[in-house]
Amino acid sequence: MPVTMFKMLHVVGARPNFMKVAPVWRALGEVGLHQAIVHTGQHYDPNMSDVFFDQLGMARPDINLEVGSGSHAQQTALIMTRFEEVVLERRPDLVLVYGDVNSTVAAALVCAKLGVPVAHVEAGLRSFDRTMPEEINRLLTDQLADLLFTPSEDGNRNLAREGIPASKVYLVGNVMIDTLVRLMEHARPPKDVAIDGSFALVTLHRPSNVDDPGSLRRIFAALEALTGELRVIFPVHPRTRKRMADLGLSVSDPKRFQLLEPIGYLEFLALQQRARVVITDSGGIQEETTYLGVPCLTLRENTERPVTVELGTNVLIGRDMDLLRASVQKILAGQWKNGHIPPLWDGQASQRIAKVVLEWCSTRIQG
Ligand code: UD1
Repeated sequence: MPVTMFKMLHVVGARPNFMKVAPVWRALGEVGLHQAIVHTGQHYDPNMSDVFFDQLGMARPDINLEVGSGSHAQQTALIMTRFEEVVLERRPDLVLVYGDVNSTVAAALVCAKLGVPVAHVEAGLRSFDRTMPEEINRLLTDQLADLLFTPSEDGNRNLAREGIPASKVYLVGNVMIDTLVRLMEHARPPKDVAIDGSFALVTLHRPSNVDDPGSLRRIFAALEALTGELRVIFPVHPRTRKRMADLGLSVSDPKRFQLLEPIGYLEFLALQQRARVVITDSGGIQEETTYLGVPCLTLRENTERPVTVELGTNVLIGRDMDLLRASVQKILAGQWKNGHIPPLWDGQASQRIAKVVLEWCSTRIQG
């Protein structure tokens, strides 16, 4: 059978998946592979999902499993039950899963049980913190995957330590940066946000920061205090919005501390490009700021993306709000490290993936 008859199925579900699937979908399309996209529906608000498909120039998903929110077990189980039917009906030759969200591990597990090969894009990242739901998702997905695409060398080392044969692992670079490189010139700030002057851009959604009332209050107070030095712009994730409402947290000066609804990819990129500092607990934003050379202060004790600290502009702040304040001072005084872009973060990672997938298809024809 010709390579173009191979059926690829991409599975995505949550916001950080969409900017990763987009370049891979394009690259596999360019080499003529047949493909379809399954959206699990883990993220379902239009501003957490649809806007990204529009801005990334992606086809709408062929199937939406509409699983919505729930506990981890509920969400994972529902994705598995519904995705199993899709796999049985469509019989894909290869299923591609992305990152570390519940949709990633759920789809990988279904495929492993049905004997369908899985490729994991963004394999090998480890925070070594098993209290983080994503770390469990990463560990299990990598054990189940047949092809593992890593963004940086630490990923290859982690996989080797876990006994995963090197023959399955390909260091390809960072697909999220592929999207950034392609869309950087189209970035545009949100309409109602002034981007003149110095501002800090904030994102926050990790359960360890926002689900614990004490922790969320402390972070919020520290951000309020920063408004003495610079404006704060904070697009708020739905999880965080709910927690803030529960605690009755509100800003004292909305001109200095601007809370926004979640914004699109191009709008967020424009804010990152112009921010004096980014304060975040996200994974992908640590990488994007490193690429852009913008100082990043990460409100976590650890990171699965150590290259952003070793080479890039990122520093781990943990829970130390004094360190946050002191670091912002340093940045405003122009005393931050410059950082370097990690190897293979060059906008071509997806092309490398497409090459490997084509070779994989050819070997299966011969085998
Ligand atoms: C998920 C991922 C996380 C990723 C993040 C990016 C897992 C375990 N976590 O976390 O790795 O960094 O997405 O955003 O997969 N909600 C809405 N509308 C939506 C989606 C969610 O209101 O479109 C609310 C719901 O109340 C839901 C809560 O946000 O219960 C959390 O959503 P969920 O998908 O469970 O996890 P995230 O915190 O978004």
